Amino acid sequence: MSESRADYHAPVMGKEVLSFLEPSDSGLYFDGTVGGGGHSRMILKACEGCRIIAVDRDEQALNEARSALAPFSGRVRFVHRRFDDAVRDPEVQDRGLNGALLDLGVSSHQLDDESRGFAFRRGVTLDMRMDQTQDVDAIRFLAEADEEVLYEVFRDLGEERNAKRLAREVAKRRSSEAMTTSDQLVAALSVVLQRPPTSQDKARIFQAVRIAVNGELDALQNALPALRDALVDGGVLVVLSYHSLEDRMVKNAFRDWSKSCVCPPELPVCRCRGHALGETLTRKPLKAPDAETIRNPRARSARLRAWRRAA
Ligand SMILES: C[S@@+](CC[C@H](N)C(=O)[O-])C[C@H]1O[C@@H](n2cnc3c(N)ncnc32)[C@H](O)[C@@H]1O
Repeated sequence: MSESRADYHAPVMGKEVLSFLEPSDSGLYFDGTVGGGGHSRMILKACEGCRIIAVDRDEQALNEARSALAPFSGRVRFVHRRFDDAVRDPEVQDRGLNGALLDLGVSSHQLDDESRGFAFRRGVTLDMRMDQTQDVDAIRFLAEADEEVLYEVFRDLGEERNAKRLAREVAKRRSSEAMTTSDQLVAALSVVLQRPPTSQDKARIFQAVRIAVNGELDALQNALPALRDALVDGGVLVVLSYHSLEDRMVKNAFRDWSKSCVCPPELPVCRCRGHALGETLTRKPLKAPDAETIRNPRARSARLRAWRRAA
């Protein structure tokens, strides 16, 4: 681990997250991405009697969170599941949530631990599964995905202008030798770009493969309405995203839920629910302050949006 334990738990925009959640002593909170426990710790410290359902699909992260949150153990229940599954938990459905948080993507710990195969550093064996019990890892994905799927992943998730050529290059290379290491993926990218890829080039492509391997957009798409419906009246949902497609999904969902009428424009009278489900608390996404991005470069791409269910 190339970072201190304190860094592992440094939560992105922690103060801002707390200011939206406003944890109350009798509240039940859902941390769908507990990671190293940084945000959960802040929530638990901010209220004496509140409880947290702490979810992560990565068992290693959950173990980290267990030790970071040991002082609060009576007030935390750990759940090893995808957050869109965990929201169907009976306690969540029966009691309702006063607040929910998704801090999407991977932690810097997962990126830094070479054995997890997320990084584009030299000599890393690819893996990229957040949940190590999942069947398909990055090696299998790069070996088995149709060239058309690779193209869409590089184009849509990687915003790569040469996506078609990169997909073709991967397909060509894998027919003679399996793509198992970071170096092989970087080599394919170098050929397509006709220059050594920058760190940003590599980061975009590796992030795209990671999002595809873990089905991250599907999980978010499923979780957003489920979390909205699990909130008690006045409950707040906060999402920190690190990819433009995730942020757009959150923005559109919050905008839709905040409309008082969702009838098609051609209908002369409103036939829909006729009232907003709640209000968007962030007109524009919040970004991390400069002081934080200097301390923690990962915070640079964070976009925070918050929504409150009508009281
Ligand atoms: C950015 S880190 C969270 C860091 C955490 N907020 C903290 O302060 O320590 C994201 C975590 O969410 C987990 N994760 C990502 N997508 C998930 C999903 N769909 N379901 C459950 N956990 C997920 C990852 O395994 C990772 O541990």
